[in-house]
Amino acid sequence: MIIWKNIELVEPGEIVGEDVYDPSGFIILIKEGSVLKEGDIYLLKNRGVSILPIYVEEVLTSEDIEPTIDMELYDNLSKDLSNTFEEVKNGELNVKKVVKHSEEIMKKVLEKYNEKILNLIRKDQKPLARHAINTGVISSIIGISLGFDDETLNKLIISAILHDVAHEKPVRDIIEYYDTHPIKATGMLRKHFNMNDDVLLSILHHHERFDGKGYPRNLKGTSIPVFARILSIADAYDTLISKDFPGKAFSPYEAVKFIISNSGKMFDPNIVSKFVQYVGIYPTGTVVELSNGERGIVVKVLSGLIPLVKANGRLLDIVKEKIYIKKVIN
Ligand SMILES: [Fe+2]
Ligand SMILES: [Fe+2]
Repeated sequence: MIIWKNIELVEPGEIVGEDVYDPSGFIILIKEGSVLKEGDIYLLKNRGVSILPIYVEEVLTSEDIEPTIDMELYDNLSKDLSNTFEEVKNGELNVKKVVKHSEEIMKKVLEKYNEKILNLIRKDQKPLARHAINTGVISSIIGISLGFDDETLNKLIISAILHDVAHEKPVRDIIEYYDTHPIKATGMLRKHFNMNDDVLLSILHHHERFDGKGYPRNLKGTSIPVFARILSIADAYDTLISKDFPGKAFSPYEAVKFIISNSGKMFDPNIVSKFVQYVGIYPTGTVVELSNGERGIVVKVLSGLIPLVKANGRLLDIVKEKIYIKKVIN
């Protein structure tokens, strides 16, 4: 990729992106691909060149990939849900509004489901709303993979939206043994809103662990409601990749690794495998170094968990091109 740089900011060692001519347009002052030396920069300045085409390696970040929930919908949801959480605290929840939000998330996820792209907003001024939306997105991906019908998916997403409603803000510590928020949330919703039992139970048990060491009832294995087993994976994944907390967030790659390494411990192994079949080992947004020396970013997952990598403006099916991933950068 070429960027045009003010000559005052150009440094020795940078590479010229295309031939640079003198003002007459006949004489090449410096050729494309030349590595600039201090003397070259001095000379070019003297010849009246003020901006230079400089070659830079294209480095994409996950912000360059369109999020699963597009920004317009995301912003609306984030605003609305922040109000919703306030309403719950005041005992005024409008269930119809939550159902509408759940349907919007479901529709968007269904539209993109076959693309196998999971790209979430990782930072927001409204962290609790962000966490609710993302947990909803991941849960619905898992729900679709498990064959849930629309009505069941809807209940699952409503549970995801409301699961941390008793939190002031989301917490990164996903093993909240001493935290009573699932009980509080269930109480708030049951008392005021006559909420569906499947939703209430999944919220109550979203911090149970598959090995029975969770909270609040130490339920084990499949005695944990299936919605709660889904929520716990979605909740953990989003909490790990979130940049709303001080300190370093996990990359999507590290978060998937964490989920896999806790399969059968924290999480239901069957549901983990459905989740991984969708996001892949190298999820969307993973920055990788390839065996051909290029650096790229995973833009989606192909069949068989093969990542489609974008590097230097090209889309690479690494299997077809006989390239492998040398290492994960982030
Ligand atoms: Fe929670
Ligand atoms: Fe949560």
